[in-house]
Amino acid sequence: MHFPSLAHLLPVLSFFITTNAQDTSLAAVKAAFDAADLPEDIFFTFDPSVLLEVTFPEASGKDIVLHAGIHVPRNDTAGPPTFAVIGPAGKGPFVVATIDPDAPTPQDPTSAEIRHFLGGNFFASGEPVQHLTNVTPAISEFRQPTPPAGSDAHRYTFLLFNQPPGFNGQNLVNSTTSVSNFNLSSFALATGLGQPIGGTFMLVAPDPTT
Ligand SMILES: *[C@@H]1O[C@H](CO)[C@@H](O)[C@H](O)[C@H]1NC(C)=O
Ligand SMILES: *[C@@H]1O[C@H](CO)[C@@H](O)[C@H](O)[C@H]1NC(C)=O
Ligand SMILES: *[C@@H]1O[C@H](CO)[C@@H](O)[C@H](O)[C@H]1NC(C)=O
Repeated sequence: MHFPSLAHLLPVLSFFITTNAQDTSLAAVKAAFDAADLPEDIFFTFDPSVLLEVTFPEASGKDIVLHAGIHVPRNDTAGPPTFAVIGPAGKGPFVVATIDPDAPTPQDPTSAEIRHFLGGNFFASGEPVQHLTNVTPAISEFRQPTPPAGSDAHRYTFLLFNQPPGFNGQNLVNSTTSVSNFNLSSFALATGLGQPIGGTFMLVAPDPTT
């Protein structure tokens, strides 16, 4: 019997690891949003023109790079995540928002949306993967997902917008504004963010030990 050597297997394994790790197709991201009923639940047309890469650093083990619909263990979502854009987005500035439309449960989301992150003034580095860096503090710093015990997994949704002129003057939301019962769609209408140009989402269930 012939066993392939590890040297032969490694390129195959790394191919699967890299191709499964992050979003690589706009059509696949859009299909995942549609399959999860996200566009109607967050009141956006979701027709991405670029990929938003979201990476969670991990204290032990490899960083987790999201792809749309990935299940991530709650304890691996401490973050804060880092962002990159892949595709013809330009240099920025951009706004990144993270919302949970499923709080406290997907069946009865009475406190949704929860605003888990909202930040502007993100600028892109060089191509092809353009890492995003914000030059001002976020409006809402990243909050780790905490779906309550007994809940189904929540859809934590990350969206990228072109930042309109005057956005820094918005006074609808600041660091002391309640993060509950947020409506990113109406915020986007009011501030001229328009529709997202990219996004992805992760499913996070309650920690099994809670
Ligand atoms: C998640 O973290 C909490 C707090 O540190 C810990 O009690 C719990 O056991 C962890 N869960 C898992 C599945 O490791
Ligand atoms: C945040 O917004 C609220 C409501 O608009 C306002 O009363 C408060 O002064 C603002 N806080 C800061 C730090 O700007
Ligand atoms: C959120 O805002 C959008 C756009 O203004 C609106 O269509 C939608 O009904 C709002 N959702 C909720 C739950 O209020």
